[in-house]
Amino acid sequence: MKENDQPILSVRDLRVSFATEEGLVRAVDGVSFDVRRGQILGIVGESGSGKSVTNLAIMGLIPMPPGRIDGGRVLFCGKEILGVPEAEKRKLRGDRISMIFQDPMTSLNPFLRISLQLTEVLELHKRISRKKARRHAIAMLDLVGIPDAAERIDDYPHQFSGGMRQRVMIAMSLLCEPELLIADEPTTALDVTIQAQILELLKKIRDELGTSIVFITHDLGVVAGICDETLVMYAGKILEKGSTRSLFASPSQPYTRGLLRSVPRLDLGRKEELTPIRGNPPYLLDRSPGCPFLPRCDFAVDKCGEEFPPRRQVAKNHDVWCWVEMEGSAG
Ligand SMILES: Nc1ncnc2c1ncn2[C@@H]1O[C@H](COP(=O)(O)OP(=O)(O)OP(=O)(O)O)[C@@H](O)[C@H]1O
Ligand SMILES: [Mg+2]
Repeated sequence: MKENDQPILSVRDLRVSFATEEGLVRAVDGVSFDVRRGQILGIVGESGSGKSVTNLAIMGLIPMPPGRIDGGRVLFCGKEILGVPEAEKRKLRGDRISMIFQDPMTSLNPFLRISLQLTEVLELHKRISRKKARRHAIAMLDLVGIPDAAERIDDYPHQFSGGMRQRVMIAMSLLCEPELLIADEPTTALDVTIQAQILELLKKIRDELGTSIVFITHDLGVVAGICDETLVMYAGKILEKGSTRSLFASPSQPYTRGLLRSVPRLDLGRKEELTPIRGNPPYLLDRSPGCPFLPRCDFAVDKCGEEFPPRRQVAKNHDVWCWVEMEGSAG
């Protein structure tokens, strides 16, 4: 296999649980996927579906206890990273894999100037002089679209608007030129115009720096605009995955169809009636052997309660986990 054909990230049968007072929560339950080099992969699902926990596990940031990795493999550039010692993980996180969190205020220190927060990262991980680090940090702020970056770098976080703070966060996550960037709902707290700008920015970063990106969101509409491939997660499992084009053209899981009906589609540019998916998000403690979406599914058959469905290919690079073959789906 040529080096460039090897996925930058391969997750295989990942299982993560949390011991809670009510019992064991299986937050991630047998998740497998690849991220190819230079690809933007979207992970979509309602709140509590395991999107963040999947990616925290990749980053080695699951709090243990109460968390536990029950199994699986995470390969970064072909090398297992799940069990590596903490020091090695920390180095990996700074140098090669980076994460943007949902709320920039939780990751920026309100009492320190941006300049210090940005250059510290560089001095620590790249061992370059303060002067050089500052120059690089200004260039990054410039790249993410902060006007007058050379002056604004000495501002405090609260002197930036929400959208600008998110850009600062993105700049910080890019400082060490990571090969993989994990963006966990980076636009949820922002208004629609700024959200669109941040999405454009992530695309630009991929195109100009070649960064592979995992983009987490609960909004399928956002995915359509930027992701090459999309995973649909529910109750810690992947229910559908494929090229974004195929997945949107022929959603093949009732849950994906429900999600599509319940969010506005930016790409369609017209007003449609939105229908929320009936029922409540899954109760992760009570795990029956079947499909977790069963209690909310309008198409369920007997088998759905008995066994989780095997992977079924509906088109090239488009798989679904569902016992029912939906009409109008691909393949
Ligand atoms: N530290 C923890 N202790 C106990 N349970 C946890 C912990 N972290 C996550 N969980 C549980 O794991 C499940 C998956 O959570 P996760 O944060 O991955 O969801 P998510 O898909 O990212 O949702 P959201 O869209 O709300 O961010 C949830 O049921 C959550 O309560
Ligand atoms: Mg989350």
